[in-house]
Amino acid sequence: MKAYAEALVKAKAEEEAKEAAEKAGEDTNTTKRLEEEAKKLSEKESKVDSLAEEAKGVGAPMKCILSKAKDSTQAPSLQALAHHSTMTQPLISPSSGLVNTQTPFASCFNPQLNTHLILPFKRTTSSFRYKSPILNQIQTMAPSNLKSNRWSLQGKAALVTGGTRGIGRAIVEELAGLGATVHTCSRNENELDKCLVEWKSLGLKVSGSICDVSIRAQRESLMEKVSSLFDCKLNILVNNVGTNIRKPMVDLTAEEVSTLLATNFDSVFNLCQLAYPLLKASGLGCVVFTSSVSGFVSLKSMSLQGATKGAINQLTRNLACEWAKDNIRSNAVAPWYIRTSMVEQVLSNKEYLEEVYSRTPLQRLGDPTEVSSLVAFLCMPASSYITGQIICVDGGMSVNGFYPKDY
Ligand SMILES: NC(=O)c1ccc[n+]([C@@H]2O[C@H](COP(=O)([O-])OP(=O)(O)OC[C@H]3O[C@@H](n4cnc5c(N)ncnc54)[C@H](OP(=O)(O)O)[C@@H]3O)[C@@H](O)[C@H]2O)c1
Repeated sequence: MKAYAEALVKAKAEEEAKEAAEKAGEDTNTTKRLEEEAKKLSEKESKVDSLAEEAKGVGAPMKCILSKAKDSTQAPSLQALAHHSTMTQPLISPSSGLVNTQTPFASCFNPQLNTHLILPFKRTTSSFRYKSPILNQIQTMAPSNLKSNRWSLQGKAALVTGGTRGIGRAIVEELAGLGATVHTCSRNENELDKCLVEWKSLGLKVSGSICDVSIRAQRESLMEKVSSLFDCKLNILVNNVGTNIRKPMVDLTAEEVSTLLATNFDSVFNLCQLAYPLLKASGLGCVVFTSSVSGFVSLKSMSLQGATKGAINQLTRNLACEWAKDNIRSNAVAPWYIRTSMVEQVLSNKEYLEEVYSRTPLQRLGDPTEVSSLVAFLCMPASSYITGQIICVDGGMSVNGFYPKDY
């Protein structure tokens, strides 16, 4: 038994020694090869074509350059590379990804020659292989395919609440325009039907149902409809509906309080609960809430509305963490004044409008499409690492400090 154990130890030691010898040989060979190439290159001053053949994998004629460097930390500048380059391929740094427009390369420092050797990026050489998904896509996909992947919503199923006017309507059109199949809801049947006809004439895949999201039973019917339409799967839930009653808080009646809470928060919370199994079943879900800057800063006569949006902001963060394991992201957009029917009346007052402009660094109102573009981005694979964020769409209002006019 002892002899057997000793034999095993010996065999293992021999195997390790063999591996180490092979590796040392490999390293020596690589170093030797690079030194030889570097020598050859330096003789020809700055540019040679000797590795161009090897770089055929990236599909363009390539050149190698040598760059003098004081030490191993001083890498040649990317600008210099681009200048020397005759490439048409994207410029890739093995350490930092897609950094400029011209050349894929790998660099290594040669202490004897005190130079950086720049080698064309070569996909077949494992030591220089850079596995950037962006590069893979650029090299292997036509631009149309690239678009249809990361920057598209093709094949996604979405529910957008309150899609017949204002921000909700812009979101429906933005998502459907990017390839999603969208279901929306509102309370006014005529208005909904008119929208559906218009969307159909534009070739957008949008369906709709009547639903007052402040009523639990109607929310449940809405989600049953969505489930049957989309085969029990939902990729995108946009909780857009919200309302406002402007009053000092002590003047709000009990009925107004319950309307505001039911419309702005209960509905959102419960729709998330109802949508959860569908979002999970889709394998890649996302929730976007329409919050408001009123959830961050105090606005006159909007204490309860602001509190409901503040609650949405925290729900956004909680769901991001609670549902991450199910591959569901959760984000919110927080607009300041956007030109919609909801704020039409208050903004018809000229003095009030002037106050709004003066408080807004960009000195104008927002357009619903300036919110819907962000919502679409948050639903795309392109934003796949963003979750738990509340992003203001406010012309700079929420970061505005003190800027007196005459100083
Ligand atoms: N506009 C702004 O300046 C602004 C600023 C900050 C935040 N927001 C937020 O953005 C969201 C959209 O606002 P908006 O200005 O686009 O509003 P909007 O122009 O009044 O449009 C609201 C949409 O939601 C529907 N809706 C309203 N209550 C509903 C309910 N109980 N059930 C189902 N659908 C309902 C409306 O249709 P029906 O009336 O037919 O139901 C309409 O389609 C809200 O959450 C709001 O708080 C807006």
